[in-house]
Amino acid sequence: MKKITIAIDGFSSTGKSTVAKRIAKHLGYVYVDSGAMYRAVTYYAMQQGFIDSNHFNIEGLVENLKAITISFKFNNALGFAEVYLNGINIENDIRTLEVSSFVSKVAEISEVRQKLVEQQQQLGKDGGVVMDGRDIGTVVFPDAELKLFLTASPENRAKRRFDELVKRGDRVLYDEVLKNVEERDYIDSHRKDSPLVKAEDAIEIDNSNMSKEEQFHIVLGLVDKRINSI
Ligand code: DC
Repeated sequence: MKKITIAIDGFSSTGKSTVAKRIAKHLGYVYVDSGAMYRAVTYYAMQQGFIDSNHFNIEGLVENLKAITISFKFNNALGFAEVYLNGINIENDIRTLEVSSFVSKVAEISEVRQKLVEQQQQLGKDGGVVMDGRDIGTVVFPDAELKLFLTASPENRAKRRFDELVKRGDRVLYDEVLKNVEERDYIDSHRKDSPLVKAEDAIEIDNSNMSKEEQFHIVLGLVDKRINSI
């Protein structure tokens, strides 16, 4: 059976990675979390002192992009590939609210986007890939056979992210998470380079009132239909 490319875009915390991972597992496809790559660069910038709440040394980061190697390694116990920065597993370190508060600023830089888009295209060049992010259907894989655009209300998404952070043991306030979600929505959809927009041929799914199970079956139905139409 032909292996297609599935691009899943949408605002933050719309459950893209949850459905993408499950679909990839079901089909035996590779799942790539492109947001993890932007988070990895952000984590590097924080470690090197290029970004903090008072300043952002964009030039310093851009000059050092060559020193950044991002890779993914499949973790059998977790059932998905974890992200590595220069050989070190940073899967947990990149999910903090601190990284979330800087990542949209890092993702605005064209040099960063160029480097990561190139790697993303390389990872998906043979098809059989499910990739989620903001510009997958518009920039990374404009010819993807199936494009989905997930949405949900900001309050709904903040609640989901808040529950996730609390479960990890992070001490955060719901209002602070909601503020981060709204700020990222704004920056992600207003940046000059590759802003978050729905691709013309993407199918929109509002999952505000949908369970993970329902969403999985809806997406699986769309995948089957698309594969059978080829
Ligand atoms: O999906 P996420 O929340 O982990 O993504 C983190 C940030 O990375 C998000 O705020 C915007 C940016 N991003 C992007 O600009 N392009 C992508 N393809 C994926 C993420």
